[in-house]
Amino acid sequence: MYVVLLGPPGSGKGTQAERLAAAFGLAHISTGDLFRENIRLGTELGKRVQEYLSRGELVPDDVTIAMVAEQLRLPVAREGAVFDGFPRTVEQAQALDRELARLGKSVDKAVELVVPDDEVVRRLSGRRICRVCQAAYHVEFNPPSCPGRCDKCGGELYQREDDRPEVLRRRLEVYHRQTTPVIEYYRQAGVLRRVDGTGPIEEVGKRLADLVRQDPP
Ligand code: AP5
Repeated sequence: MYVVLLGPPGSGKGTQAERLAAAFGLAHISTGDLFRENIRLGTELGKRVQEYLSRGELVPDDVTIAMVAEQLRLPVAREGAVFDGFPRTVEQAQALDRELARLGKSVDKAVELVVPDDEVVRRLSGRRICRVCQAAYHVEFNPPSCPGRCDKCGGELYQREDDRPEVLRRRLEVYHRQTTPVIEYYRQAGVLRRVDGTGPIEEVGKRLADLVRQDPP
């Protein structure tokens, strides 16, 4: 099963993708996490993409598509995957269809997490990320048991540079301009579903899991 999670920055894609992947035995492919990991390790890819992330702009399609294609060839993605933050342009969506078709697969469901802009601003200003395993927390809505430390691995928690208000505004603009057409792309393909992304994390997770379990899309 291949599931695409769509939604603005802070809509809960990362939080819910991790849960869905664990519940359904799928790989979790997060392009944002992969870019940040490459930046942290100082790889060539990391050096190439760093500026885009710090400005809140999209990384060029060719770079992003090549990275995801590589992930799809890993054994862990053979039974399926949850895509988090990808595709973000129609060109990326078309490339994903081509890559999956090569494996005899297709996108089964594309789920749009619907959260208003004022709520995502509130979420992202309190978000904290683990430097080691990249798990996401929120100082108020999803706090770690020990402040500043990850519950899963004990890593240090930090605030993402692109969660600063000026970059966040830019990310929201980019989302509305460049990623909204992807929603239409999946609507036309007949695989789009919308889920209310507001309310407690557990509740949103249940709505999503119920929808993913439903057959057909
Ligand atoms: P990326 O890392 O993908 O960022 P994003 O899409 O902007 O999404 P976020 O990670 O900010 O939010 P999320 O929806 O995952 O929410 P989360 O679960 O963390 O991309 C970063 C950058 O990389 C881009 O700007 C671009 O430069 C580049 N990039 C990435 N993919 C690309 C692509 N395909 N093409 C080109 N460039 C690309 O939740 C947010 C907070 O809210 C957390 O604190 C969480 O605990 C809390 N929370 C979650 N759910 C709830 C809830 N129900 N109630 C209350 N709080 C909640």
